[in-house]
Amino acid sequence: MTATKTLTDWPHLYVPGQPGAPVFLLLHGTGGDERSLRPLAVELDPDAGMLAPRGRVSEDGMNRWFRRHAEGVFDVDDVISRSADLAGFIEAAREQYGLDGRAIVAVGFSNGANIALATALLHPASLDRVVAFSGMYPLGERESSSDLTASRILMVNGDADPMAPLPSVTRAVGALRGRGAEVEQHLRPGGHGIAQADLTAAREWLSSAT
Ligand code: MLT
Repeated sequence: MTATKTLTDWPHLYVPGQPGAPVFLLLHGTGGDERSLRPLAVELDPDAGMLAPRGRVSEDGMNRWFRRHAEGVFDVDDVISRSADLAGFIEAAREQYGLDGRAIVAVGFSNGANIALATALLHPASLDRVVAFSGMYPLGERESSSDLTASRILMVNGDADPMAPLPSVTRAVGALRGRGAEVEQHLRPGGHGIAQADLTAAREWLSSAT
């Protein structure tokens, strides 16, 4: 598929931002769309570009990035195939929007954090950095065999999040580090969501990591 066709077939928003600033790949949570994380992106870095695709799986009308059998029980084959699609989208966007030389930083929340982590694990060359808010290990019993030594990832979680349980968060951190990624973890008291302290942690990490 050509880059132009990949992009025209995939609803998304693109805002160039300031030259030389990173481009945030914004990955919304379940039920969101390409506009959902725009305010978050502005809070994190008002100069950053934004590339925000819409999740192409529908669950009872809610946009998602991959199918699931139940809450927290993912269809891992679908996770794997959708992360390859997302890597293709990123490559097409790099070409179409002339993004070579700009850092692409995935910023995902919840289901969007999970596809970001899957893409980081399976297609590390697609993403320069990842900020995963309320994400967890997305590959079930499977593991990555990719070289992640160039990857830098921030995992931001609540320590009592029933949708991203701590053992799965710990597993994600271990799996990423085990393949060589540099992972920073910001764990705060509380549940699913993005707290003010999470934003502060993400801003600080971004200013040193990009
Ligand atoms: C997922 O399905 O990715 C997680 O359970 C979070 C969510 O409900 O979106």
